[in-house]
Amino acid sequence: MGGGDQKSIVVCGLKGSGKTVYGEDVARKYGRRCLVVDTVHDFKTGAAYYVWRPEKPHTPETLAVLLKNIASGKKSNQPGNIIDMLVIDEGNRYAPGGGAKLHPVIAEFNDQMRHPPYSCSALWITRRPVQLHPDIIGLADRVLVYHLSGVRDVNYLNDLCYGLGTQATLLPDYYYLEYQSGRFELKHPIVYVK
Ligand SMILES: Nc1ncnc2c1ncn2[C@@H]1O[C@H](COP(=O)(O)OP(=O)(O)O)[C@@H](O)[C@H]1O
Ligand SMILES: [Mg+2]
Repeated sequence: MGGGDQKSIVVCGLKGSGKTVYGEDVARKYGRRCLVVDTVHDFKTGAAYYVWRPEKPHTPETLAVLLKNIASGKKSNQPGNIIDMLVIDEGNRYAPGGGAKLHPVIAEFNDQMRHPPYSCSALWITRRPVQLHPDIIGLADRVLVYHLSGVRDVNYLNDLCYGLGTQATLLPDYYYLEYQSGRFELKHPIVYVK
């Protein structure tokens, strides 16, 4: 099928567990090729990457419009319009779980992001994995799990991979578990840049 090294990554964990710090680290590495959907104004502005703070209500349609713009920016090939990494904070607002249907544009992006017209990586941030649409987690190349404790989240992650949810309840501050290709490993905190 071709495609480059674009990846879909999900980051989950309780409030204060380190998700935004991780997202900022990724965003800095991409610089102006990264756009952050800064849903709850958690990211620094004036940074090396683009920050977009969409107005309320934050609906799947909000993200769908952005995805169409990213695709047309790629087609027009204008420098400054090329987004190679999309960081989506509170991703569960745009791709909610709980039995809701994925917005067709978001479903298309989730399936086809590695190919034109998107050719774009995505980092989905959500506090609770059960609140994010299962197709986002199901197609993710990696799931990063920071400390969490909700029973439904723990069960969901244990179902994804034996022990993943249970280990997530035991994580020290800012440590995380990286789940990939059917297994997971413990990762040290990333270096925090204020
Ligand atoms: N890797 C880290 N090393 C040291 N401190 C961290 C690290 N990650 C997060 N923190 C601290 O925890 C705070 C909350 O982290 P944040 O990423 O905003 O949490 P979340 O987005 O999961 O709610 C940060 O402001 C920082 O003070
Ligand atoms: Mg955050």
